[in-house]
Amino acid sequence: MQIAIIGTGYVGLTTGACLAHLGHTVRCYDLDTSRMDVLRRGEVPIFEPGLSEMIGRNVEAGRLSFIEDPTDAVRGCKFAFIAVGTPSKSCGRIDLSYVEAAASDLATLMPAGSTIVIKSTVEVGTARKLSHLIAMKRGDQQVTIGVNPEFLREGSAIRDFLEPDRIVCGADDPVTAERLGRIYAPLTSRGAELVQLTTVDAELSKCTANAFLALKIGFINDVADLCEKTEGDVRAVAHAIGLDHRIGRAFLDAGPGYGGSCFPKDTRAFAATGRRFQASQGLVETLIERNEERKRKLARRIIQALPVSGSRRVGVLGTAFKQQTDDMRESPALTIIEVLEDAGVEVSAYDPEAMRNGRRLLPRTIWASCPYEAATDVDALVILTEWPSFRSLDLKNLSKVMRGRKLFDFRNVLDARKCKSVGLKHIGVGRGTDLGMGYQGGEARLQRPL
Ligand code: UDX
Ligand code: UDX
Repeated sequence: MQIAIIGTGYVGLTTGACLAHLGHTVRCYDLDTSRMDVLRRGEVPIFEPGLSEMIGRNVEAGRLSFIEDPTDAVRGCKFAFIAVGTPSKSCGRIDLSYVEAAASDLATLMPAGSTIVIKSTVEVGTARKLSHLIAMKRGDQQVTIGVNPEFLREGSAIRDFLEPDRIVCGADDPVTAERLGRIYAPLTSRGAELVQLTTVDAELSKCTANAFLALKIGFINDVADLCEKTEGDVRAVAHAIGLDHRIGRAFLDAGPGYGGSCFPKDTRAFAATGRRFQASQGLVETLIERNEERKRKLARRIIQALPVSGSRRVGVLGTAFKQQTDDMRESPALTIIEVLEDAGVEVSAYDPEAMRNGRRLLPRTIWASCPYEAATDVDALVILTEWPSFRSLDLKNLSKVMRGRKLFDFRNVLDARKCKSVGLKHIGVGRGTDLGMGYQGGEARLQRPL
């Protein structure tokens, strides 16, 4: 099938490459011409494991191309995916102006008998609103609309696309539902589960899924606080409760709070939708506040551990919002580093992938070329991203270059006993038992690398 992608950002690009991998002919368009130039030169503007190779293979096979003009991009296509950005408005609601503009353009560009698929995360009711707008603009009902939310985690987006837990497709008529199903036939024929819903239920499913996952994280972070006060160990508790299939172990790693381009935005949108429809989402409202407060609380905890006078310096390892990405959108590191710097603390930071973004977003921070340089002469060291390479840090060397002894491991990646053996005071999250008697079941679980 011929498919156009409108908006070739993180989601649009991954979706386009994966659809081409499934055998479709995909043409990607983006308003940002410099982004298109980069892609046409064969470069990939984001870091996502496996994506660059997949793009290369499909461009070479003639199944994937990057087109400058939207009219050319949609020519001959029976499907156009809208994957443009959906930023938060100050009231928490999603700014749908880019989605609406794209749908309005596509209304006249797409041929009769085609379908526009909303991939971007939208508010409930958007598809029906756009369907009306498209029909008005065309004067017929020959272009239909479907909703196909993404559940792609940065860092494992390709696997999430090709081996999905489920594919959610929303349509309000059987023809559109059947068309959407055909796009994913290469995956459903291999056993992937296709969940066909109305557009409203598909829209609600997306924001509800992210709100629920964020609630799990918020809950385990609160449990971590309790563990710290009670000689408990949150990793042990997460392991024990996670074995109950009704609960599940995923998204129970305590840390510095959730970040990224989706959870903060989607939880705010979920709460705003609740307010708008007078169906208050009080749990999520509280979660948003607590997640914000958590980052500030952890920053204050670091400050309290620093010398009261003299020049104070903190090293930060990991600034991406999670491992396997260069993305720093709403990363906990942004708030934590800013609070430290506002308090007059000098911060030296290192991240294996996110430093290009970091230099732009945190201009006061000193960027180091390796973890040991970031740790040199610091009063305290803080781990904020669970990069696998941080697990095998040379602790002896760290201890030697650091001025102070405190190591705040806010992702629980290091072994407290090993830190102690080189004279470092390990301070994890949710670990009230770092006396050698606590949980022996291994450090925080890594999300499966690709
Ligand atoms: C996407 C979805 O849009 C968002 O709803 C979802 O919650 C997360 O994934 P993402 O791909 O991460 O967002 O955003 P971004 O990487 O910013 O890409 C959006 C792209 O759309 C940008 O490249 C931008 O240039 C492009 N765009 C934006 C258009 O092509 N046209 C527009 O009118 C606006
Ligand atoms: C999320 C959704 O998981 C995905 O389905 C899609 O809708 C896009 O948004 P992503 O933002 O890439 O994916 O990251 P995710 O792996 O969900 O992590 C989000 C945040 O939660 C990160 O800051 C991460 O560090 C944090 N997190 C995750 C925890 O603190 N603990 C956990 O156990 C899991």
